[in-house]
Amino acid sequence: MAQMDLHELLRSLRVWDAAATQLRPFDPDTAPPTPLTLFTTWFAEAVAAGQPEPHTMSLATVDEEGRPDVRIVMLHGADADGWSFATHSTSRKGRALSARPHAALAFYWPALGRQVRVRGPVTSAPAEESQADLHARSTGALAAALTGRQSEELSSVAELREASQAAWERARQHPDEPSPTWTLYRLRPETVEFFQGDPERRHVRLEYRSTEFGWSRGLLWP
Ligand SMILES: Cc1cc2nc3c(=O)[nH]c(=O)nc-3n(C[C@H](O)[C@H](O)[C@H](O)COP(=O)(O)O)c2cc1C
Repeated sequence: MAQMDLHELLRSLRVWDAAATQLRPFDPDTAPPTPLTLFTTWFAEAVAAGQPEPHTMSLATVDEEGRPDVRIVMLHGADADGWSFATHSTSRKGRALSARPHAALAFYWPALGRQVRVRGPVTSAPAEESQADLHARSTGALAAALTGRQSEELSSVAELREASQAAWERARQHPDEPSPTWTLYRLRPETVEFFQGDPERRHVRLEYRSTEFGWSRGLLWP
């Protein structure tokens, strides 16, 4: 019964409902020569269009055995050094990244029917830089990092509450307290794909590829 309800619900849903989505024409011939420029423009347009949480992204990794995993993280920046995010090096994703230092990111901005995918090798920033990035964020972000033990098995909700309360206390009293495993990672893009949804389903897929001579560009069938 619950299954039927799910399928009915799924059939009732549409993507890019005109009430919530504005599909804009995207001419790939007018795209800038570097993906960072286009990403920066699309990001600002997602914010202006009212896209909730445009700075969250899926981060896909593979573990030692080549098995994939994916989760949401925050984008900390995108510049000439790559797209950056932060997490604990001891978490599942941190361990996957030390075994296989490659990852993929996906952004989805339904307000504009847009998706951006970024793939490439990942490196860790030096410890001072990781800690500076953490200390520039909110007290809550520091408390969460100080709570630690990310991805370890938790025995009870009460255990988390106790550890978190102690971490909030430390974060308020010592805003510069380090969280030694907290690490800023940078993904250096090898490919960056921009997808613009089209009402006739002639979606535009523009892929930038890093070459020894700079960025090359090509279209992909949708
Ligand atoms: C909106 C949102 C933002 C998140 N941002 C981060 C983040 O920046 N860093 C992080 O470590 N976890 C973040 N998380 C939690 C991760 O999705 C994930 O649960 C956690 O990092 C453990 O993942 P792992 O076991 O694969 O290492 C976020 C979750 C959500 C829903």
